[in-house]
Amino acid sequence: MSFKLRMWVSLILFFLWLVTGISGVFLLIAPLLAYFKISVPMSLIDTLHIYLGFAFFGLSVVHIALNWPAMKGYFKRLR
Ligand code: HEM
Repeated sequence: MSFKLRMWVSLILFFLWLVTGISGVFLLIAPLLAYFKISVPMSLIDTLHIYLGFAFFGLSVVHIALNWPAMKGYFKRLR
């Protein structure tokens, strides 16, 4: 498996994790922001969270597949 592909998948995964996590926190504190009348583009944040969240989930499967040989090694050492 090419190192370059693994590197790009990991890098994109990091970006998706960051955006999904931050937008998730915004969704969580949305009522608080509304209470203090702090204006944020909530519908954009919601859309980003959903699409990038699912992309994150899908790419995680690819990430595990690409790193499967290393993971198998870790499991073997546990036995
Ligand atoms: C990275 C960590 C994540 C955090 C901290 C987080 C947090 C949240 C929060 C606080 C909400 C709002 C719940 C509510 O309104 O009651 C939410 C909604 C949602 N999340 Fe996440 N989430 C995360 C990851 C993900 C992932 C990976 C996916 C997709 C696979 C995802 C999909 C969704 C969807 C579909 C909704 C519903 C959106 C809506 O009601 O408009 N989230 N998330």
